[in-house]
Amino acid sequence: NRRTYNDSPTGIQYHSDHGFVDGGLSHKISTEFMADATNEQQKTLRSFPQRSRNCYTLPSATGKKFLVRALFTYGDYDGLNSTMSGSLFRFGLHIGVNFWEAVNLTNSDPSNTIWKEVLTVAPGNNLSVCLINFGTGTPFVSSLELRPLQDVMYPFVNSSVSISYFIRIRFGNMTTNLITRYPMDDYDRFWESSSSSYATYPFLSRTTSNEVRRLPGNDAFQLLPIFHFAEVVDNNPNRSFNIYSGDEMLFPDFSPSRSQVDSMHQNGRFLHNPAASFLLNKTNNSVLPPLINAFELYSLVRMDNLTTDSNDVSYIKEVKKHYNLAQINWNGDPCSPREYSWEGLICSYPKSNQ
Ligand SMILES: *[C@@H]1O[C@H](CO)[C@@H](O)[C@H](O)[C@H]1NC(C)=O
Ligand SMILES: *[C@@H]1O[C@H](CO)[C@@H](O)[C@H](O)[C@H]1NC(C)=O
Ligand SMILES: *[C@@H]1O[C@H](CO)[C@@H](O)[C@H](O)[C@H]1NC(C)=O
Ligand SMILES: *[C@@H]1O[C@H](CO)[C@@H](O)[C@H](O)[C@H]1NC(C)=O
Ligand SMILES: *[C@@H]1O[C@H](CO)[C@@H](O)[C@H](O)[C@H]1NC(C)=O
Ligand SMILES: *[C@@H]1O[C@H](CO)[C@@H](O)[C@H](O)[C@H]1NC(C)=O
Ligand SMILES: *[C@@H]1O[C@H](CO)[C@@H](O)[C@H](O)[C@H]1NC(C)=O
Repeated sequence: NRRTYNDSPTGIQYHSDHGFVDGGLSHKISTEFMADATNEQQKTLRSFPQRSRNCYTLPSATGKKFLVRALFTYGDYDGLNSTMSGSLFRFGLHIGVNFWEAVNLTNSDPSNTIWKEVLTVAPGNNLSVCLINFGTGTPFVSSLELRPLQDVMYPFVNSSVSISYFIRIRFGNMTTNLITRYPMDDYDRFWESSSSSYATYPFLSRTTSNEVRRLPGNDAFQLLPIFHFAEVVDNNPNRSFNIYSGDEMLFPDFSPSRSQVDSMHQNGRFLHNPAASFLLNKTNNSVLPPLINAFELYSLVRMDNLTTDSNDVSYIKEVKKHYNLAQINWNGDPCSPREYSWEGLICSYPKSNQ
Protein backbone atom coordinates (compact mmCIF):
# COMPACT_ATOMS: atom_id res chain seq x y z
CA ASN A 1 0.00 0.00 0.00
CA ARG A 2 1.82 3.11 -1.23
CA ARG A 3 -0.80 5.55 -0.09
CA THR A 4 0.00 8.49 2.16
CA TYR A 5 -2.89 9.70 4.30
CA ASN A 6 -3.70 11.67 7.41
CA ASP A 7 -4.87 9.57 10.32
CA SER A 8 -8.32 10.89 11.22
CA PRO A 9 -8.20 11.24 15.03
CA THR A 10 -4.69 12.73 15.18
CA GLY A 11 -4.23 14.36 11.78
CA ILE A 12 -0.75 12.79 11.70
CA GLN A 13 0.51 11.78 8.28
CA TYR A 14 1.29 8.11 7.69
CA HIS A 15 3.34 6.79 4.78
CA SER A 16 3.62 3.37 3.28
CA ASP A 17 6.78 1.52 4.36
CA HIS A 18 7.92 1.31 0.75
CA GLY A 19 11.54 2.44 0.64
CA PHE A 20 12.17 1.93 4.35
CA VAL A 21 12.60 -1.84 4.25
CA ASP A 22 13.73 -4.59 1.89
CA GLY A 23 11.72 -7.76 1.61
CA GLY A 24 8.84 -8.99 3.69
CA LEU A 25 5.28 -9.50 2.53
CA SER A 26 2.46 -7.05 2.89
CA HIS A 27 -0.90 -8.28 4.16
CA LYS A 28 -4.30 -7.13 5.28
CA ILE A 29 -5.78 -8.35 8.52
CA SER A 30 -8.65 -10.78 8.11
CA THR A 31 -12.02 -9.24 7.22
CA GLU A 32 -13.37 -10.61 10.50
CA PHE A 33 -11.23 -8.11 12.42
CA MET A 34 -11.45 -5.13 10.06
CA ALA A 35 -14.36 -3.64 11.97
CA ASP A 36 -12.37 -3.72 15.23
CA ALA A 37 -9.43 -1.80 13.78
CA THR A 38 -9.61 1.72 15.13
CA ASN A 39 -7.39 3.21 12.45
CA GLU A 40 -6.02 2.52 8.97
CA GLN A 41 -2.54 1.69 10.27
CA GLN A 42 -3.81 -1.40 12.03
CA LYS A 43 -5.54 -2.86 8.97
CA THR A 44 -2.37 -3.73 7.08
CA LEU A 45 0.98 -5.15 8.12
CA ARG A 46 4.24 -6.52 6.80
CA SER A 47 5.39 -9.98 7.77
CA PHE A 48 8.91 -11.39 7.51
CA PRO A 49 8.83 -15.15 6.96
CA GLN A 50 12.41 -15.07 5.62
CA ARG A 51 15.73 -14.12 7.25
CA SER A 52 16.48 -14.08 10.94
CA ARG A 53 16.76 -10.28 11.03
CA ASN A 54 14.86 -7.71 8.97
CA CYS A 55 15.49 -4.03 9.50
CA TYR A 56 13.64 -0.83 8.78
CA THR A 57 15.85 2.16 8.13
CA LEU A 58 14.23 5.36 9.34
CA PRO A 59 15.56 8.83 8.61
CA SER A 60 16.76 10.62 11.74
CA ALA A 61 19.43 13.07 12.82
CA THR A 62 22.66 12.22 14.63
CA GLY A 63 22.45 12.79 18.37
CA LYS A 64 18.77 13.66 18.31
CA LYS A 65 16.40 12.11 20.82
CA PHE A 66 13.42 10.14 19.51
CA LEU A 67 10.45 8.17 20.62
CA VAL A 68 10.18 5.05 18.45
CA ARG A 69 6.95 3.09 18.64
CA ALA A 70 6.08 -0.16 16.91
CA LEU A 71 2.47 -1.38 16.83
CA PHE A 72 1.28 -4.91 16.23
CA THR A 73 -2.21 -6.02 15.28
CA TYR A 74 -2.17 -9.66 14.25
CA GLY A 75 -5.81 -9.80 13.08
CA ASP A 76 -5.34 -13.39 11.86
CA TYR A 77 -3.84 -12.00 8.64
CA ASP A 78 -2.46 -15.43 7.70
CA GLY A 79 -5.56 -17.39 8.67
CA LEU A 80 -3.43 -19.55 10.99
CA ASN A 81 -4.90 -18.34 14.29
CA SER A 82 -1.28 -18.08 15.44
CA THR A 83 -1.90 -16.17 18.65
CA MET A 84 -4.46 -18.68 19.88
CA SER A 85 -2.97 -21.91 18.58
CA GLY A 86 -1.50 -22.82 21.96
CA SER A 87 2.10 -22.64 20.82
CA LEU A 88 4.47 -19.81 21.60
CA PHE A 89 4.20 -16.79 19.30
CA ARG A 90 7.06 -14.54 20.14
CA PHE A 91 9.69 -12.52 18.26
CA GLY A 92 12.24 -9.85 19.06
CA LEU A 93 12.96 -6.21 18.37
CA HIS A 94 16.29 -4.50 18.07
CA ILE A 95 16.86 -0.80 18.18
CA GLY A 96 19.91 -0.43 15.97
CA VAL A 97 22.33 -3.16 17.03
CA ASN A 98 20.92 -3.60 20.53
CA PHE A 99 18.21 -5.81 21.86
CA TRP A 100 15.15 -3.71 22.75
CA GLU A 101 12.32 -6.05 23.71
CA ALA A 102 10.46 -9.25 22.89
CA VAL A 103 6.97 -9.13 21.42
CA ASN A 104 4.93 -11.93 22.96
CA LEU A 105 1.56 -12.44 21.30
CA THR A 106 0.92 -15.90 22.75
CA ASN A 107 -2.71 -16.20 23.88
CA SER A 108 -3.42 -12.64 22.84
CA ASP A 109 -6.79 -11.93 21.25
CA PRO A 110 -6.24 -11.55 17.46
CA SER A 111 -7.99 -8.17 17.46
CA ASN A 112 -5.62 -6.77 20.13
CA THR A 113 -3.14 -4.07 19.30
CA ILE A 114 -0.04 -4.09 21.35
CA TRP A 115 2.77 -1.57 21.15
CA LYS A 116 6.38 -1.23 22.19
CA GLU A 117 8.11 2.06 22.65
CA VAL A 118 11.70 3.07 23.15
CA LEU A 119 13.16 6.49 23.86
CA THR A 120 16.56 6.62 22.23
CA VAL A 121 19.27 8.84 20.81
CA ALA A 122 19.92 8.36 17.10
CA PRO A 123 23.50 7.19 16.53
CA GLY A 124 23.54 8.47 12.94
CA ASN A 125 21.41 9.90 10.16
CA ASN A 126 19.45 6.69 10.04
CA LEU A 127 17.89 4.77 12.86
CA SER A 128 17.18 1.11 12.34
CA VAL A 129 14.47 -0.98 13.91
CA CYS A 130 14.86 -4.69 13.33
CA LEU A 131 12.50 -7.63 13.73
CA ILE A 132 14.17 -10.79 14.96
CA ASN A 133 12.88 -14.25 14.23
CA PHE A 134 13.28 -16.43 17.34
CA GLY A 135 11.87 -19.48 15.56
CA THR A 136 8.56 -19.07 17.38
CA GLY A 137 6.33 -17.47 14.78
CA THR A 138 6.75 -15.12 11.85
CA PRO A 139 7.62 -11.56 12.91
CA PHE A 140 5.39 -8.79 11.60
CA VAL A 141 4.71 -5.13 12.26
CA SER A 142 1.62 -3.00 11.61
CA SER A 143 3.08 0.47 11.99
CA LEU A 144 6.23 2.24 13.07
CA GLU A 145 6.25 5.74 14.47
CA LEU A 146 9.21 8.00 14.97
CA ARG A 147 8.65 11.17 17.00
CA PRO A 148 11.33 13.73 17.74
CA LEU A 149 11.67 14.74 21.39
CA GLN A 150 13.32 17.85 22.83
CA ASP A 151 16.92 17.32 23.92
CA VAL A 152 16.08 18.42 27.47
CA MET A 153 13.41 15.77 27.86
CA TYR A 154 14.36 12.52 29.60
CA PRO A 155 17.88 13.88 30.27
CA PHE A 156 19.14 10.45 31.36
CA VAL A 157 18.56 9.03 27.87
CA ASN A 158 21.88 9.26 26.01
CA SER A 159 23.83 7.41 23.36
CA SER A 160 24.50 4.47 25.70
CA VAL A 161 21.20 4.41 27.62
CA SER A 162 17.75 4.03 26.05
CA ILE A 163 14.53 3.30 27.90
CA SER A 164 11.75 0.97 26.94
CA TYR A 165 8.21 1.89 27.83
CA PHE A 166 6.46 -0.22 30.42
CA ILE A 167 3.47 1.95 31.28
CA ARG A 168 2.37 5.58 31.09
CA ILE A 169 -0.75 6.59 32.94
CA ARG A 170 -2.73 9.73 33.56
CA PHE A 171 -4.86 9.93 36.67
CA GLY A 172 -8.18 11.67 36.97
CA ASN A 173 -10.77 11.68 34.22
CA MET A 174 -10.77 14.95 32.29
CA THR A 175 -11.61 12.93 29.20
CA THR A 176 -13.26 9.59 28.71
CA ASN A 177 -10.64 8.47 26.14
CA LEU A 178 -8.77 5.41 27.28
CA ILE A 179 -5.65 6.67 25.57
CA THR A 180 -4.72 10.27 24.98
CA ARG A 181 -1.95 11.13 22.53
CA TYR A 182 -1.27 13.83 19.94
CA PRO A 183 -2.63 16.55 19.80
CA MET A 184 -3.17 16.39 23.62
CA ASP A 185 0.50 15.45 23.94
CA ASP A 186 2.83 17.37 21.61
CA TYR A 187 5.20 14.40 21.40
CA ASP A 188 2.46 11.85 20.73
CA ARG A 189 3.21 9.82 23.84
CA PHE A 190 0.38 7.43 24.68
CA TRP A 191 -1.12 8.16 28.11
CA GLU A 192 -3.54 5.57 29.37
CA SER A 193 -6.44 6.40 31.59
CA SER A 194 -5.97 4.99 35.08
CA SER A 195 -9.41 3.47 34.61
CA SER A 196 -8.53 1.62 31.41
CA SER A 197 -8.47 -2.11 31.75
CA TYR A 198 -4.78 -2.15 30.91
CA ALA A 199 -4.13 0.10 33.89
CA THR A 200 -5.96 -2.07 36.36
CA TYR A 201 -2.48 -3.33 37.24
CA PRO A 202 -2.44 -2.70 40.96
CA PHE A 203 1.13 -1.61 40.61
CA LEU A 204 0.65 1.82 42.09
CA SER A 205 -1.21 2.21 45.28
CA ARG A 206 -2.06 5.10 47.49
CA THR A 207 -2.55 2.97 50.55
CA THR A 208 -0.29 0.54 52.34
CA SER A 209 -2.42 -2.46 51.51
CA ASN A 210 -1.13 -2.73 47.99
CA GLU A 211 -1.37 -5.83 45.95
CA VAL A 212 1.64 -6.67 43.88
CA ARG A 213 1.87 -7.94 40.33
CA ARG A 214 5.14 -9.36 39.06
CA LEU A 215 6.72 -7.96 35.97
CA PRO A 216 7.56 -10.21 33.10
CA GLY A 217 11.28 -10.75 32.87
CA ASN A 218 13.81 -11.59 35.48
CA ASP A 219 14.78 -10.11 38.80
CA ALA A 220 17.53 -8.05 37.25
CA PHE A 221 14.82 -5.90 35.62
CA GLN A 222 15.86 -2.31 36.14
CA LEU A 223 13.09 0.21 36.28
CA LEU A 224 12.90 3.92 36.06
CA PRO A 225 9.73 5.50 37.42
CA ILE A 226 8.80 9.13 36.78
CA PHE A 227 6.09 10.62 39.01
CA HIS A 228 4.33 13.81 37.91
CA PHE A 229 2.73 16.04 40.52
CA ALA A 230 0.98 19.39 40.60
CA GLU A 231 -1.03 20.70 43.53
CA VAL A 232 -4.69 21.27 42.70
CA VAL A 233 -5.88 22.94 45.90
CA ASP A 234 -5.63 26.72 45.95
CA ASN A 235 -4.79 27.91 49.43
CA ASN A 236 -1.74 26.61 51.27
CA PRO A 237 -2.78 23.01 51.27
CA ASN A 238 -1.38 20.91 54.05
CA ARG A 239 -0.29 17.94 51.97
CA SER A 240 2.87 15.93 52.28
CA PHE A 241 3.71 12.34 51.53
CA ASN A 242 6.53 9.86 51.09
CA ILE A 243 7.29 8.21 47.76
CA TYR A 244 8.52 4.64 47.80
CA SER A 245 9.78 2.21 45.20
CA GLY A 246 9.30 -1.20 46.80
CA ASP A 247 10.75 -0.76 50.31
CA GLU A 248 13.06 2.02 49.30
CA MET A 249 12.09 5.58 50.20
CA LEU A 250 12.79 7.71 47.12
CA PHE A 251 11.43 11.07 48.24
CA PRO A 252 10.49 11.70 51.88
CA ASP A 253 8.00 14.36 52.95
CA PHE A 254 7.20 15.60 49.46
CA SER A 255 4.71 18.44 48.83
CA PRO A 256 3.63 19.14 45.24
CA SER A 257 4.12 22.67 43.96
CA ARG A 258 1.08 24.72 43.13
CA SER A 259 2.25 26.63 40.08
CA GLN A 260 4.32 24.02 38.31
CA VAL A 261 4.61 20.34 37.53
CA ASP A 262 7.23 18.42 39.45
CA SER A 263 8.45 15.41 37.49
CA MET A 264 10.22 13.29 40.03
CA HIS A 265 12.94 10.73 39.31
CA GLN A 266 16.36 10.27 40.85
CA ASN A 267 18.59 11.72 38.13
CA GLY A 268 17.71 8.82 35.92
CA ARG A 269 18.81 6.18 38.44
CA PHE A 270 17.43 2.74 37.59
CA LEU A 271 15.86 0.90 40.49
CA HIS A 272 15.85 -2.74 41.32
CA ASN A 273 12.15 -3.32 41.91
CA PRO A 274 11.14 -6.68 40.43
CA ALA A 275 7.63 -6.44 41.84
CA ALA A 276 7.17 -2.99 40.25
CA SER A 277 5.38 -1.74 43.33
CA PHE A 278 5.28 1.91 44.19
CA LEU A 279 3.71 3.62 47.17
CA LEU A 280 2.64 7.13 48.04
CA ASN A 281 2.30 7.34 51.80
CA LYS A 282 0.82 10.28 53.74
CA THR A 283 3.14 11.60 56.42
CA ASN A 284 1.83 11.72 60.01
CA ASN A 285 1.34 15.47 60.16
CA SER A 286 -0.17 15.91 56.70
CA VAL A 287 -3.85 16.84 56.64
CA LEU A 288 -4.52 15.95 53.01
CA PRO A 289 -3.91 12.58 51.39
CA PRO A 290 -1.35 12.08 48.59
CA LEU A 291 -2.20 13.02 45.02
CA ILE A 292 -0.65 12.11 41.71
CA ASN A 293 -1.29 13.42 38.20
CA ALA A 294 0.63 11.07 35.96
CA PHE A 295 3.12 8.26 36.10
CA GLU A 296 5.63 6.77 33.68
CA LEU A 297 7.59 3.56 34.08
CA TYR A 298 10.46 2.48 31.85
CA SER A 299 13.00 -0.30 31.78
CA LEU A 300 16.65 0.02 30.86
CA VAL A 301 17.85 -0.77 27.34
CA ARG A 302 21.63 -0.83 27.19
CA MET A 303 23.07 0.50 23.97
CA ASP A 304 26.46 -1.13 24.52
CA ASN A 305 26.96 -2.91 21.22
CA LEU A 306 29.17 -1.15 18.75
CA THR A 307 28.03 -0.20 15.27
CA THR A 308 30.12 -0.60 12.17
CA ASP A 309 32.06 2.49 11.13
CA SER A 310 29.76 4.58 8.94
CA ASN A 311 32.31 4.87 6.09
CA ASP A 312 32.60 1.10 5.96
CA VAL A 313 28.80 0.88 5.94
CA SER A 314 28.59 3.34 3.05
CA TYR A 315 31.21 1.46 1.03
CA ILE A 316 29.62 -1.91 1.50
CA LYS A 317 26.21 -0.43 0.64
CA GLU A 318 27.73 0.85 -2.60
CA VAL A 319 28.87 -2.68 -3.32
CA LYS A 320 25.37 -3.94 -2.64
CA LYS A 321 23.90 -1.32 -4.96
CA HIS A 322 26.48 -1.85 -7.70
CA TYR A 323 25.75 -5.57 -7.89
CA ASN A 324 22.03 -5.07 -7.29
CA LEU A 325 22.00 -7.37 -4.28
CA ALA A 326 18.55 -6.43 -3.01
CA GLN A 327 17.48 -10.02 -2.47
CA ILE A 328 20.21 -11.17 -0.14
CA ASN A 329 20.23 -10.87 3.59
CA TRP A 330 22.03 -7.56 3.66
CA ASN A 331 20.17 -5.11 5.80
CA GLY A 332 20.74 -3.49 9.15
CA ASP A 333 24.28 -3.06 10.43
CA PRO A 334 26.72 -5.22 8.38
CA CYS A 335 28.70 -6.59 11.35
CA SER A 336 26.70 -6.09 14.51
CA PRO A 337 25.43 -7.88 16.50
CA ARG A 338 27.81 -10.60 15.39
CA GLU A 339 25.21 -13.32 14.99
CA TYR A 340 23.33 -11.18 12.44
CA SER A 341 26.30 -10.01 10.40
CA TRP A 342 25.79 -9.98 6.65
CA GLU A 343 25.95 -13.34 4.97
CA GLY A 344 29.22 -13.79 3.12
CA LEU A 345 30.79 -10.69 4.64
CA ILE A 346 33.75 -11.29 6.92
CA CYS A 347 33.95 -8.76 9.72
CA SER A 348 36.91 -8.53 12.05
CA TYR A 349 36.36 -7.55 15.66
CA PRO A 350 39.73 -6.46 17.00
CA LYS A 351 39.69 -5.61 20.71
CA SER A 352 42.49 -3.11 20.10
CA ASN A 353 40.63 -1.00 17.56
CA GLN A 354 36.92 -0.91 18.13
C1 LIG B 1 -8.43 -20.12 17.31
O1 LIG B 1 -8.03 -21.04 18.30
C2 LIG B 1 -8.82 -21.01 19.46
C3 LIG B 1 -8.19 -21.94 20.48
O2 LIG B 1 -7.85 -23.17 19.89
C4 LIG B 1 -10.26 -21.41 19.11
O3 LIG B 1 -11.06 -21.32 20.27
C5 LIG B 1 -10.78 -20.42 18.07
O4 LIG B 1 -12.07 -20.81 17.66
C6 LIG B 1 -9.86 -20.41 16.87
N1 LIG B 1 -10.31 -19.38 15.95
C7 LIG B 1 -10.37 -19.56 14.64
C8 LIG B 1 -10.86 -18.40 13.83
O5 LIG B 1 -10.05 -20.60 14.13
C1 LIG C 1 25.42 -7.37 21.66
O1 LIG C 1 26.06 -8.24 20.78
C2 LIG C 1 26.29 -9.53 21.32
C3 LIG C 1 27.19 -10.30 20.37
O2 LIG C 1 26.70 -10.23 19.07
C4 LIG C 1 24.94 -10.18 21.55
O3 LIG C 1 25.08 -11.49 22.06
C5 LIG C 1 24.19 -9.36 22.56
O4 LIG C 1 22.90 -9.86 22.75
C6 LIG C 1 24.09 -7.91 22.10
N1 LIG C 1 23.61 -7.10 23.19
C7 LIG C 1 22.50 -6.38 23.11
C8 LIG C 1 22.15 -5.55 24.29
O5 LIG C 1 21.82 -6.38 22.13
C1 LIG D 1 4.24 -15.21 26.59
O1 LIG D 1 2.89 -15.04 26.92
C2 LIG D 1 2.28 -16.23 27.36
C3 LIG D 1 0.80 -15.96 27.53
O2 LIG D 1 0.57 -14.78 28.23
C4 LIG D 1 2.92 -16.70 28.65
O3 LIG D 1 2.32 -17.89 29.08
C5 LIG D 1 4.38 -16.92 28.39
O4 LIG D 1 5.03 -17.25 29.59
C6 LIG D 1 5.02 -15.69 27.79
N1 LIG D 1 6.36 -16.00 27.44
C7 LIG D 1 7.37 -15.24 27.76
C8 LIG D 1 8.73 -15.75 27.38
O5 LIG D 1 7.25 -14.17 28.32
C1 LIG E 1 20.71 6.63 5.40
O1 LIG E 1 19.61 6.84 4.58
C2 LIG E 1 19.89 7.56 3.40
C3 LIG E 1 18.59 7.81 2.70
O2 LIG E 1 17.86 6.63 2.58
C4 LIG E 1 20.86 6.77 2.53
O3 LIG E 1 21.18 7.50 1.39
C5 LIG E 1 22.11 6.48 3.34
O4 LIG E 1 22.97 5.61 2.62
C6 LIG E 1 21.77 5.82 4.66
N1 LIG E 1 22.97 5.69 5.45
C7 LIG E 1 23.29 4.56 6.05
C8 LIG E 1 24.54 4.61 6.86
O5 LIG E 1 22.61 3.56 5.98
C1 LIG F 1 24.71 7.84 29.78
O1 LIG F 1 24.15 7.89 31.06
C2 LIG F 1 24.68 6.94 31.97
C3 LIG F 1 23.88 6.99 33.23
O2 LIG F 1 23.65 8.29 33.63
C4 LIG F 1 26.15 7.23 32.19
O3 LIG F 1 26.69 6.29 33.09
C5 LIG F 1 26.86 7.13 30.87
O4 LIG F 1 28.22 7.49 31.02
C6 LIG F 1 26.24 8.07 29.85
N1 LIG F 1 26.81 7.78 28.55
C7 LIG F 1 27.18 8.73 27.72
C8 LIG F 1 27.78 8.27 26.44
O5 LIG F 1 27.06 9.91 27.99
C1 LIG G 1 -15.31 11.32 36.06
O1 LIG G 1 -15.60 10.43 37.14
C2 LIG G 1 -16.75 10.80 37.91
C3 LIG G 1 -16.84 9.88 39.09
O2 LIG G 1 -16.63 8.56 38.74
C4 LIG G 1 -17.99 10.76 37.01
O3 LIG G 1 -19.12 11.18 37.73
C5 LIG G 1 -17.75 11.70 35.80
O4 LIG G 1 -18.84 11.58 34.92
C6 LIG G 1 -16.46 11.33 35.08
N1 LIG G 1 -16.21 12.32 34.03
C7 LIG G 1 -15.85 11.97 32.80
C8 LIG G 1 -15.60 13.09 31.84
O5 LIG G 1 -15.74 10.81 32.48
C1 LIG H 1 3.81 5.27 55.94
O1 LIG H 1 4.08 6.49 56.58
C2 LIG H 1 4.15 6.42 57.98
C3 LIG H 1 4.24 7.82 58.53
O2 LIG H 1 5.17 8.60 57.81
C4 LIG H 1 5.31 5.53 58.39
O3 LIG H 1 5.42 5.42 59.76
C5 LIG H 1 5.11 4.16 57.76
O4 LIG H 1 6.24 3.34 58.03
C6 LIG H 1 4.89 4.26 56.27
N1 LIG H 1 4.53 2.96 55.74
C7 LIG H 1 5.20 2.34 54.77
C8 LIG H 1 4.70 1.03 54.31
O5 LIG H 1 6.18 2.80 54.27
